[in-house]
Amino acid sequence: VTGPFEPGERVLLVDQRDRRYLVRLAPGETWHSHGGGVAHDELIGAPEGTVVRSPSGMWFRAFRPRMADFVLKMPRGAQVVYPKDVGPILVEADIHPGARVLEAGTGSGALTMALCRAVGRDGRVVSYDLRPEFQEKAASNVETFLGKLPEWLELREGDVREVATTGETYDRVVLDLPEPWAVLDALSGVLPSGAIVCGYLPTTIQVQQLVLAADPAGYEHLETFETLHRTWHVTERSVRPDHRMVAHTGFITILRRVPSAPQGAPQGW
Ligand SMILES: C[S@@+](CC[C@H](N)C(=O)[O-])C[C@H]1O[C@@H](n2cnc3c(N)ncnc32)[C@H](O)[C@@H]1O
Repeated sequence: VTGPFEPGERVLLVDQRDRRYLVRLAPGETWHSHGGGVAHDELIGAPEGTVVRSPSGMWFRAFRPRMADFVLKMPRGAQVVYPKDVGPILVEADIHPGARVLEAGTGSGALTMALCRAVGRDGRVVSYDLRPEFQEKAASNVETFLGKLPEWLELREGDVREVATTGETYDRVVLDLPEPWAVLDALSGVLPSGAIVCGYLPTTIQVQQLVLAADPAGYEHLETFETLHRTWHVTERSVRPDHRMVAHTGFITILRRVPSAPQGAPQGW
């Protein structure tokens, strides 16, 4: 979306200290910042990058939120896949336009949005979650950010293992749930050889349990990695890393579905 801000849109307001606020524009309404009220009408019809001032002299610059901005500000029930990890997941799990992707759990829908954008209207995203209240929140988040729920997304309430009875097949699977090793057997029937499974896990113990379960269930372990995203402070007088960073979120593990090994092949093949 480009052009002037319209009523109903979400805008991101960033103050001089880089604090960020997400505001839904409505004619005649006022946004109450800690520096006093700012009229939405000052932003409606204005271009992105517009600067507005609060009565106490605070300045805010307005942009349309990027997906990463939105995810960190949207209502969350479960822990989201952190924006720094979304890019690597899409690339390393090779989520491409037209792909059929299975996701579990939906959680707050942070990854669901990214998957929907990556596969596009020729693709399909089916996302399971055990908890209906998370799916409702996710649906509302996806709809808010993308404008409407994409027709190529299906949210299903239930255990992802239920997919085994559907007769469907998938090219890619992303698992952000506490015990992914427990679903590998059930998923093998919906995954052709070569299909990619990506696990997102917060602890090394879980990673090891997933990797050890992979081979017996018919998956090859390609890699496990983490991403470290260190932002920098850049001014005329100094250029240095910021003092704070998000040091740990999750480990990403990539598995690939393989046919069963021929008799006599070495272990792991
Ligand atoms: C950490 S959250 C997922 C967050 C999500 N990836 C996001 O970015 O917003 C984990 C979710 O997995 C769900 N879950 C756990 N086991 C599951 C299973 N076997 N099948 C489906 N969902 C499951 C939980 O209910 C929870 O909502």
